[in-house]
Amino acid sequence: MTKRRVAVLISGRGSNLAALIEAARAADFPAEIVQVISNRPAAAGLDLARRAGIEALTIDHTRFDGRAAFEAEVGAALERAGAELVCLAGFMRLLTGGFIARWRDRLINIHPSLLPLFPGLDTHARALAAGVKLAGCTVHFVREETDNGPILGQAAVPVLPDDTEESLAARVLEAEHRLYPACLRLVAEGRVSVTGETARVDAAGPAEARLINPLP
Ligand code: GRF
Repeated sequence: MTKRRVAVLISGRGSNLAALIEAARAADFPAEIVQVISNRPAAAGLDLARRAGIEALTIDHTRFDGRAAFEAEVGAALERAGAELVCLAGFMRLLTGGFIARWRDRLINIHPSLLPLFPGLDTHARALAAGVKLAGCTVHFVREETDNGPILGQAAVPVLPDDTEESLAARVLEAEHRLYPACLRLVAEGRVSVTGETARVDAAGPAEARLINPLP
């Protein structure tokens, strides 16, 4: 099997990166992580990548005069690595339309809410303030509008009465670590087709069809 070459862009901790690296270790996983790029030199995810034997680069956005120059450098690195797909995993820079168009339907993001609800920052605080009883995460192709684009997959978790931002974030993060590799697999296997702004995903649904909280 030829594996699709994947680069991961990060800014920090890198727990989703770790989940992708772990999944990609499996012989039957259709993608390999060939490069990790961080815009922040101190990102913990860089060490994690190095320890896994993956090329890990810092491209510090503060050294560039504007977004386009920064992205040109990122683009050149991706090209050198022969990246076919790019996963954003806690990458905290907005990308310009030019970069997004260049990677259209090959640029994937994970966001810790059930989009289109709560895009942007402070998503868990806003979910708690809204009193929703299910929260979750979304993997989607990137479009110009932040946290927007064809949805590849979503995972839902319950919001519990005593949840804090931290406890909810931790529950969602666990779901992220399962969802992101699953969605990358689907894209790498060519089981996703995009029509307009929606993605059709050729995959089985969950065994349990309903997620109800609170339980009846
Ligand atoms: C995750 O919650 C992800 O959904 C969001 O940023 C966080 C990154 O965490 N985009 P990590 O760096 O993958 O641990």
